[in-house]
Amino acid sequence: MKVAVIDGDGIGPEVMEAAVVVLEAVAARHRLPLRLHPWDLGAERYLREGVTITEAERDRLVGEHDAALLGALGDSRVPGNVHARDILLGLRFHADLFINFRPCRLRLPALSPLRDPHPATDIVFFRENTEGLYTGSGGSFKTGTPDEVATEISLNTCKGVERIVRAAFEYAERSGRKRITLVDKANALVHEGALWRRVFAEVGAGFPGIAQDAMYVDAMAMDLVRRPQRYEVVVTSNLFGDILSDLGAQVTGGLGMAPSGNLHPGSWALFEPVHGSAPDIAGRGIANPLGAVGCAALLLDHLGQPDAAADLEGCIAESLRSGPTTPDLGGASTTREVGDWMARRIGGLPVP
Ligand code: NAD
Ligand code: IPM
Ligand code: MN
Repeated sequence: MKVAVIDGDGIGPEVMEAAVVVLEAVAARHRLPLRLHPWDLGAERYLREGVTITEAERDRLVGEHDAALLGALGDSRVPGNVHARDILLGLRFHADLFINFRPCRLRLPALSPLRDPHPATDIVFFRENTEGLYTGSGGSFKTGTPDEVATEISLNTCKGVERIVRAAFEYAERSGRKRITLVDKANALVHEGALWRRVFAEVGAGFPGIAQDAMYVDAMAMDLVRRPQRYEVVVTSNLFGDILSDLGAQVTGGLGMAPSGNLHPGSWALFEPVHGSAPDIAGRGIANPLGAVGCAALLLDHLGQPDAAADLEGCIAESLRSGPTTPDLGGASTTREVGDWMARRIGGLPVP
């Protein structure tokens, strides 16, 4: 099990340190042949060498590992965050990781900022990850003049829509979920809307046991606050999935808790917390590591180790019930204390 570890920027190295300690404890307990390989990619490397990631590095990162774990990328010293686009989006495109799998589960009602949270809130976002508004199609004309024109083209292919919609349906069926919701803006973005709705209906016809509906993204943003428990699997485009998964994360405990997997079934995968480099708290050692630790659980599952993944999931739940927590969850512990507590618990050592 060869796993590349990319700490990245801001709180990236802080949450990854905790995730690695915990992952190593699980690997030891389950006697997994885990090999972690650190990769120096991020703002520091770019500022030092002027290089974001080379094509050869990208090939090796994918070719020589089974998966990668990434902390976060984003640094105001890098113009336009070109390194984040090259590394993160670059890897998604390069390895054709068309599924961005973003589960948001309320593990404890007290974690929700909602007044009357439903304990069964459990949503999995299937965010399309290689198309939409993220391909860089478009351009700028008469740049820097009053006549400047800037375009960003939303690219949607029949094949691309079909594979993410099918992946979401298959997941719903596999995991026993009873409802799948398409989120779009088909009342205004008529061309892509028509394609998504048609493909959703066609693929959905093969899954008669799963309730199917469609929501406009504006109403969906509202409904994720009003009654998030209604949603089970949500399939949507790249940008809408980016936005709604932050919202879904917050209503189920906060951005610091949410993991994600960039997947292409049967192939190399990249796991990263949903949050970014959080410059407002970076360097203080108080970032919540549970999103990154949750990524380690997704990674173990992906590498065919469901028992180890379940063990880790159980430990996350236990840490929320009775362990130390970071300030975003109302606790007073550090990132490291949370990670160390979990690692000791998994290793069967006494915990404070
Ligand atoms: P952010 O996710 O970094 O932070 C948003 C808010 O959530 C901040 O108040 C932050 O303190 C809080 N937060 C985030 N993670 C937390 C954690 N683990 N524990 C406690 N609190 C946490 O979003 P932003 O401020 O919009 O972006 C900062 C930088 O990160 C930008 O450069 C952005 O492009 C980048 N970014 C990177 C990724 C990624 O690498 N996957 C994802 C999102 C944003
Ligand atoms: C995410 C991030 C990225 C995205 C940024 C850093 C480009 O917000 O992984 O959610 O928009 O996909
Ligand atoms: Mn995002």
